[in-house]
Amino acid sequence: MALFVRITVAQGVRGTRDFYPEDMRLRNWLFDNFDDAALSHGFEEYDAPILEHEDLYTRKQGEEITQQLYNFQDKGDRKVALRPEMTPSLARMVMSRAGALPMPIKWYSIPQCWRYERTQRGRGREHYQWNVDIWGTSEISADAELISVVVTFFESVGLSSDDLVIRISSRKVLEEVLGSLKVEGDIFTKTCIIVDKMDKLSADVISQQLAELGHDSHAIQTIQNILGIKNMSDLTSALEDESIAVSELNYLFDSIDSYGISEWVEFDASIVRGLAYYTGSVFEAHDREGKFRAICGGGRYDKLLSTLGGKDLPATGFGFGDMVIMELLEEKKLLPELISSTEDVVIPLSPDLRNVAVMVAAALRDTGRTVDLVLEDKKMKWAFKHAERIGADRLVMVMPEEWKSEKVRIKDLHTGEESDVSFEEL
Ligand code: HAM
Repeated sequence: MALFVRITVAQGVRGTRDFYPEDMRLRNWLFDNFDDAALSHGFEEYDAPILEHEDLYTRKQGEEITQQLYNFQDKGDRKVALRPEMTPSLARMVMSRAGALPMPIKWYSIPQCWRYERTQRGRGREHYQWNVDIWGTSEISADAELISVVVTFFESVGLSSDDLVIRISSRKVLEEVLGSLKVEGDIFTKTCIIVDKMDKLSADVISQQLAELGHDSHAIQTIQNILGIKNMSDLTSALEDESIAVSELNYLFDSIDSYGISEWVEFDASIVRGLAYYTGSVFEAHDREGKFRAICGGGRYDKLLSTLGGKDLPATGFGFGDMVIMELLEEKKLLPELISSTEDVVIPLSPDLRNVAVMVAAALRDTGRTVDLVLEDKKMKWAFKHAERIGADRLVMVMPEEWKSEKVRIKDLHTGEESDVSFEEL
């Protein structure tokens, strides 16, 4: 038993990751790029607790996410859950300050999210998910601004529209089609959730699930036909002249064109998204080769607050996980070689100079330099190897002879030049 416990403890929980310093450097680099793309578009960062009331996620339309909850009862018998996504927490935050927040708000966050998923390439049981959302405007220009944030990020990490495509559609496409067949409300949402699985399940299984929902064969055929449309002119012919879906999508694509990023986007009616709350435009980014799962996804969700007992506010946003993108960047050899940010290594070269080395390190840190102080008695050779391994710029040696005149020897590890510098001048 003891051995079993030791092994499981050593391994960590299935589907979760450890971040060693070399992983952390890459994660920070990724998050910095997320930050920069959002900040460059005027978004502000927010955060929320990882633990929420389970009720925040109990939606009944059959979404996978609600079946994957990490939920439990706390010591006060409250039903709580680790957040599987950020959007409900954001909705809760907006709702609890309803009326007091100057609209529109443009907020972003990089929360860790938990889903009891089948672990596979690009999907874990925890992931970090960059969330970028705009609340308080129903203007489609907000949806275009989000696409620009995504593209800004992709470009910042060296990806191009040859690598990726952002597929865009609108829930209103299917809503209009089903509306003409008198299918509305919950059945419409459940239909979206089923057809979102088209790339994972066979056409027969999808048809069967649609039939179980009450769709007749004519409706199923109509749904399949419409979802096969891949360009705006076919969509325009398929929908009514007055179609709101078509006019909103035309506006969105025109706006994206004004950003100069049209080559990144495509209309694709099969994008419907698997979450219940989307009401309008929806999008997902995919690698062009189709090797990976969706890189990010989002859309408009104007009716979420009323499902949580509040007054609706228009909102649009996306979630962008850290896993698939890192795999893609690795495959494309776009991950940077990152070294530690330590600039100086200070080493005392005699045991009685340890405290002097402490003073030297402190003086250098006071000037704003990042300093690693060697804490044990080590030889020069070790210090060189160590400094090289962590990518330091300089080795600062505190040596008996030199210290007699209060000087230290500084070696520039890039040029190999050495100089003796007085303590005062550090
Ligand atoms: P989602 O499509 O469920 O949307 O997730 C968004 C992104 O999070 C996915 O495209 C993927 O990059 C990442 N992701 C999701 N689950 C996992 C997982 N198990 N492992 C690794 N990565 C994962 C949402 O969550 C919406 N709340 C996004 C949103 C924000 N919509 C509007 N605002």
